[in-house]
Amino acid sequence: MISTNIEKAVTLLNENEVVAIPTETVYGLAANAYNEDAVKKIFEIKKRPLFNPLIVHIKSASTINEVAKDIPEIAYKLIDAFWPGPLTLILNKQAHISDVVTAGKQTVAIRMPNHPIALDLLQKLDFPLAAPSANPFSTISPTSAAHVAHYFNEELSLILDGGECQKGLESTIVGFENNEAVLYRYGAISTEEIEKIIGSIKIKNNNEHQPDAPGMLSKHYSPKTETYLTNNVEQLIKSFPNKKIGVLTYKNKIANNNICYQEILSHNEDLNEAAQNLYASLHRLDCKNLDLIITERLPENGLGITINDRLQRAISKN
Ligand code: TXA
Ligand code: MG
Repeated sequence: MISTNIEKAVTLLNENEVVAIPTETVYGLAANAYNEDAVKKIFEIKKRPLFNPLIVHIKSASTINEVAKDIPEIAYKLIDAFWPGPLTLILNKQAHISDVVTAGKQTVAIRMPNHPIALDLLQKLDFPLAAPSANPFSTISPTSAAHVAHYFNEELSLILDGGECQKGLESTIVGFENNEAVLYRYGAISTEEIEKIIGSIKIKNNNEHQPDAPGMLSKHYSPKTETYLTNNVEQLIKSFPNKKIGVLTYKNKIANNNICYQEILSHNEDLNEAAQNLYASLHRLDCKNLDLIITERLPENGLGITINDRLQRAISKN
């Protein structure tokens, strides 16, 4: 059920149930990070493989030591710059953090979300919340309560409504190797913004067989409809005569009789707006019974890099 009842969410989470919650990035499937049974329920509902660890959401930067230890100086610089906000840090875990949360790793992913409802909820609880994005494994991420209901209405007793997610892309994930920062997942904070704070950052190879962050697995964020990514939408449309085509472009409307449905991410050429609209546009396209979706590659700078990364994974077949 979609509701704005925070007290109900507090009750359910204290009973070790799973509740969908809003964050500024995407909605999450949240449960008591300190209770293994509660965390296992997240994996069951999401049909997520147990090897893929969760992010622990904390209420304040000052509580980070309850979850992580050996925090490098450079991590504090990032925390000062970006928390609360869409930055997840991979840090050594405290012994009491369950292997279920971290998928057996000695590290744990942590972030302090920047959404008034998520923060209010965390303040009312005695434990942090483990939460992955509130979508079944490898499907399009949810940026509204309605998206979550579309996926999980049966399985969840509460979807806490916090409106549309302001960022619309998952958090940027940064880990540390030999006390140097390493980017594990492109996200809602651009690489340029991170580099303004800590200088140049190493980007982890996306195509590793054993990814450090399985958000880096190739197939992810995928519509059910066959989807393509191109620099030249009009050219690609010509390859599909007599098909029901949906199109996703950055800023331009494309006049072509073969297009049944079109989404434009930002008429103003604003990458923040495009990011905010990306998943909602993909959800709408995927509901239109199209034969295929053609998406346009965005400029390779700032959040354009994150958006292109998501589109690339959306079209991946494995
Ligand atoms: O914006 C977000 O990050 C959203 C909201 C709900 O906070 N959450 C999210 O969670 O995107 P999820 O589970 O969809 O993605 C978390 C990513 C996964 O790729 C996971 O593999 C990685 O974080 N991760 C978690 N713990 C890790 C660890 N110890 N080491 C490396 N990667 C880790
Ligand atoms: Mg996800």
